[in-house]
Amino acid sequence: MALLIKNGTVINADQTLKADVLCDEGKILAVGPDLEAPAGAEVIDAAGQYVMPGGVDPHTHMQLPFMGTVASEDFFTGTRAGLAGGTTMIIDFVIPSPQQSLLEAYGTWREWASRSVSDYSFHVAVTWWDESVRDEMKILVEQEGVNSFKHFMAYKNAIMAEDETLVNSFTRCMELGAMPTVHAENGELVYHLQKKLAEQGITGPEGHPLSRPSEVEGEAANRAIRFAQTLGVPLYLVHVSCKEALGEISRARQEGQRVYGEVLAGHLELDDSVYRSDNWDFAAAHVMSPPFRPKEHQSALWKGLQGGTLQTTATDHCCFCTDQKAMGKDDFSMIPNGTAGVEDRMMIMWDSGVNTGRLTMNEFVAVTSANAAQIFNIYPQKGRVAEGSDADIVIWDPAQSKTISAKTHHQNVDFNIFEGRTVTGVPSHTISQGKVVYANGELFVEEGAGRYIKRPAFASPFAAQKRFNEAHTPTAVERD
Ligand code: URP
Ligand code: ZN
Ligand code: ZN
Ligand code: ZN
Repeated sequence: MALLIKNGTVINADQTLKADVLCDEGKILAVGPDLEAPAGAEVIDAAGQYVMPGGVDPHTHMQLPFMGTVASEDFFTGTRAGLAGGTTMIIDFVIPSPQQSLLEAYGTWREWASRSVSDYSFHVAVTWWDESVRDEMKILVEQEGVNSFKHFMAYKNAIMAEDETLVNSFTRCMELGAMPTVHAENGELVYHLQKKLAEQGITGPEGHPLSRPSEVEGEAANRAIRFAQTLGVPLYLVHVSCKEALGEISRARQEGQRVYGEVLAGHLELDDSVYRSDNWDFAAAHVMSPPFRPKEHQSALWKGLQGGTLQTTATDHCCFCTDQKAMGKDDFSMIPNGTAGVEDRMMIMWDSGVNTGRLTMNEFVAVTSANAAQIFNIYPQKGRVAEGSDADIVIWDPAQSKTISAKTHHQNVDFNIFEGRTVTGVPSHTISQGKVVYANGELFVEEGAGRYIKRPAFASPFAAQKRFNEAHTPTAVERD
């Protein structure tokens, strides 16, 4: 059935215009003034509202098996919560165990994700290295539409990638036209500090940020960036949380390197005082890596986003309930790491970004969908309201307020890091594949309606990087 959105203002990353939007068969058919509704079409009056691309959250972990438990949010509940918040696509992570086949893990995650109610895609983590990994990366890129690989520089004795793995995998990524991405924290230092804090008798959640200070992130960010520079490959840093990492990205970009940075709504909004709460459950609920930082980092991150050093916003949505967090009652290093937000990100970014004058509405679209779609090479299929794009749309009511709470959110977790926060500017309707899946508080989702989205290799930075590398090919000196 066709859908016509009348009388709204269309906001794209590069343009604002008064226009109607006509959708059918999952696509946007037309964007323009005074469009006629085809016979039988559903019509939404969006007067006074903004019509924007649905959010793309490039960093989620639905039902992730992690730290001895499994994240409480599955692909059905998680993508449903995303739609309630205006996010119409997630890019989640396949995380093979060390020595596990990448393809085998990929198959497992595809199976889990088949229950999704919105579109989704996958980054695949490289947690170990041998020739089979090299071969499987090619299959993933060329046959499965994976164009990004993740490297955890933290989580020693679990999924941490050694330098040798980073070198081999980054090199392979460049050959395949796939973006290497990193979780930048020095896992060796974290391990050392965790043991030292335990010796000092610090066992509570306050030990979590103490074991992962910002210099630990700065070191890993610098190392990853220098590896990428040396190997001649673009790089994307997930969840940049501190001034040190931001500084490394900023420096590299000013020196002409293609480095991209993602920031989480949580890192922009929360500070590290949460870990010193005398309520253990509350403090533990905030344990995620990298941790929330002292306030000065938040203002730096906002400026990094405003100034273009950081291009994308995400959530790292990875839910563990109070009973799961309690696994670390006697040892903070055993508290499952992760916090939620897939439902809240767009509202937080609007309220703290647009309502404060930090971001224009167009910049809001850039950092909540269009930039991620470009970097991960699915633009303008995603991230744009235009003829031919997927009809993944959020209709935004800038006048309506709501108070965020775990009691009312759709996320399958018993805690919300934004609890009690009143935001102004909320989605009134979310449209996925041309169908209204959320309207004024009500969800109309269908299990399994989400599609796996293939992402082609060789996004535009790769051609430029290749030319640059060719111009810098080493030469031998001819001697007789
Ligand atoms: O604490 C976090 N972020 N948990 C999920 C895994 C990761 O590091 O992204
Ligand atoms: Zn991470
Ligand atoms: Zn993550
Ligand atoms: Zn639970």
